[in-house]
Amino acid sequence: MKYGYFDDINREYVITNPNTPSPWINYLGDSNFFSLISNTGGGYSFYKDAKLRRLTRYRYNNVPEDTDGRHIYIKDGTTTFSPTYLPSKEPLDSYECHIGLGYSRFIGVKNGLVSNLLCFVPLQENCEIQYLTIENTTKETKKIDVFAQVEWCLWNASDDNENFQRNLSTGEVEYEDNTIYHKTEYRERRNHYAFYHCSEAIHSFESDRDEFLGIRNGYDHPLQIENGSLGNTLASGAHPIAALHVQLTLKPGEKHSLSFILGYCEITGNEKKFESLNIINKRPAKEMYLRYQNEKSLKDAFIALKKHWDSLLSVYNVTSDNEKLDRMGNIWNQYQCMVTYQMSRSASYYESGIGRGMGFRDSCQDLLGFVHLLPEKAKERILDIASIQKEDGSTFHQYQPLTKRGNGDIGSGFNDDPLWLIAAVSAYIKETGDFDILNIKVPFNNLEGSEKPLLDHLKASINFTINHKGPHGLPLIGRADWNDCLNLNCYSTTPGESFQTTANKETGIAESVFIAGMFVLYGKEYARINELIGNKSEGTRVNKEVLLVKEAAEKYGWDGEYFLRAYDGNGDKVGSHQNEEGKIFIEPQGFCVMAGIGHESGYGKKALESAESLLGDKYGLELLTPPYSTYHVELGEISSYPPGYKENGAVFNHNNPWVTIAHCIEKQPKAAYSLYIKNAPSFIEEYSDIHKTEPYVYSQMIAGRYAKNYGQAKNSWLTGSATWSFVALSQYLLGIKPDYDGLIIEPCLPKETFKKIHIVRQFRGTTYLIDIDNTIDNPTCYVNGKPIKGRLVPSIRSTTPVKVELH
Ligand code: GLC
Ligand code: GLC
Repeated sequence: MKYGYFDDINREYVITNPNTPSPWINYLGDSNFFSLISNTGGGYSFYKDAKLRRLTRYRYNNVPEDTDGRHIYIKDGTTTFSPTYLPSKEPLDSYECHIGLGYSRFIGVKNGLVSNLLCFVPLQENCEIQYLTIENTTKETKKIDVFAQVEWCLWNASDDNENFQRNLSTGEVEYEDNTIYHKTEYRERRNHYAFYHCSEAIHSFESDRDEFLGIRNGYDHPLQIENGSLGNTLASGAHPIAALHVQLTLKPGEKHSLSFILGYCEITGNEKKFESLNIINKRPAKEMYLRYQNEKSLKDAFIALKKHWDSLLSVYNVTSDNEKLDRMGNIWNQYQCMVTYQMSRSASYYESGIGRGMGFRDSCQDLLGFVHLLPEKAKERILDIASIQKEDGSTFHQYQPLTKRGNGDIGSGFNDDPLWLIAAVSAYIKETGDFDILNIKVPFNNLEGSEKPLLDHLKASINFTINHKGPHGLPLIGRADWNDCLNLNCYSTTPGESFQTTANKETGIAESVFIAGMFVLYGKEYARINELIGNKSEGTRVNKEVLLVKEAAEKYGWDGEYFLRAYDGNGDKVGSHQNEEGKIFIEPQGFCVMAGIGHESGYGKKALESAESLLGDKYGLELLTPPYSTYHVELGEISSYPPGYKENGAVFNHNNPWVTIAHCIEKQPKAAYSLYIKNAPSFIEEYSDIHKTEPYVYSQMIAGRYAKNYGQAKNSWLTGSATWSFVALSQYLLGIKPDYDGLIIEPCLPKETFKKIHIVRQFRGTTYLIDIDNTIDNPTCYVNGKPIKGRLVPSIRSTTPVKVELH
């Protein structure tokens, strides 16, 4: 069952029923100010860091769910409705939520009043605009009251949820010129505040939540709104909010627009903090809201946002025989890559914004699907990430975006982490040709004086694996590898103990076949980079190491029909036919084949067949099977999940694309495509009621066959599924693969289904117009009409488009 439809022309998903099975969200913001916004207006805003600089409150775990957010109430006689349906819950005569790229638009109709609410964050701006137009389509003049309200968070979202003994006394606000300012803690050490402004002269305001709601009311029926006017109270302590009230008279057919602006400001440098005793300096706030005072400036800001996305999405654009594939490739997959890149795993409706900062491995991978969009930003991120690496090559697992320091609480020791840096850097160089990045000096662990060229960081990564191998010559797993929940040195029996930061037994023998795959893949990449920049001997040294690990993987990492997953801390096999449960895992099947392990011997093909037949379900390939039915102390968190959920046997969308890619590497277009469409959102839209999550983005997982709720998806939006699915689609299925000196054109789609494919690719400043005739075997590649040998289209500097044909 569906709850809306894709509108490809406008690049929107239009939700037509507010009662989606879970809140379906969107993200606003492109640089520092971000908002989460659900299809009923829920969500929150933050500046740079969802934990440390939270601007508005959101109660995760609340019932009813998702009632915190930007609240708009339109009171028309005795009826009060919200254009977003929530929080008033007054049934609308018609409702639409248009999920767009960087904006959400709500159209709510009630009793002849058509309300159109557009929410967006202008490019590079530190505010969210809520641009509301109300039209009276009736034959009578209407006098209406419009209320808009947000609830402030006292900056640190974690403290805001815990430290009530202090926080109930610190809240402070000011009011001036249709604007409520939230200035808690500004009197002491903060230099920032937030504000909520209305473009119209307001009739009344409120800043104290208890006054606004009245005792025991929720946001569905605030007392002051029922009474028709706000109380003009300045909050002191307790729960500060900002509520603004405008009165309008609309003649028949009349339309009126107004806007509410939620902004964030800092006073920096020598500028004075206060205008007078404890009265904040409002200069930056006034300048900000005055920028959007008239309709033209609002419209211009929105057009600029649209143009920004036009330009981003012009870098890669496909027209094929399948509109669902085009929709993923041209719009939604790229959009999710951007959001995931910006948020890492910090703020979604499943990530509370206080738990996790930016992940090392996550960010490195997120970059793969993002680097073509904004290579300059990718470069910045690489340098930030590399700065939390330690001198021995190991890395912190996460960092806080505001401080950019490694997060000691989450620790380190995930032995896959270092190698992802090579994945990120090589993807960046392939996209840009910018080898100079390798010379940029980057500190280790952010320590001054420890700066070394980025190339040395890559070397440290490689050497880390070389120096941490186990009894079979396979890489040691450490706390875990890509699979955070495969904790082979943890042996935890204490409830609540973190599986990720505890090692109760440093066995020094638990090995990962997955990391072996990574080392072979990224070791070769590192060697190639070195050869290209003239470090021949380093290339040779590492290629030898790669060979050793490849041999070890083929010898000790092969189970007969597929690749083993690991050796545990007792030296026993994990993911073997000899095991009762967890007989086969997906990760090594995908990654080892991607690395070319088992290519010559035919193991690779065999592994893919086994993955398909043993792990395949309706929604893709499960992570392992059969799931663990009991807790295994020697395996850790993976066995803590009930069967079929998360790492214990769900379809983990993140690693399905590895298998898709592996099929392409083994030249199996049918298998590659049939796996791709099993979980690509636009292809499974009709299961929206089963999945429950947004049909326009990937979720981290879809519960597997053994789960009580088979097919239910969780953790939408912030997942490596976005990046890897885009890599699989753009570089392998459609086959446009950036390489150090050009673009490799090697599509892998079934010729029965795909006849003609047209791709526009901007690459290093040149436009490539690529036409593929997919119906013939072994086509020749032509560049500007001339045949070339092989498939590498050299990078050409040209102001006119380069024509590439495959026929
Ligand atoms: C989550 C984590 C990611 C990890 C994966 C598998 O997606 O963000 O880092 O690799 O789970 O455990
Ligand atoms: C990953 C896993 C999750 C685990 C977490 C720990 O996100 O998916 O199950 O708890 O990592 O960091």
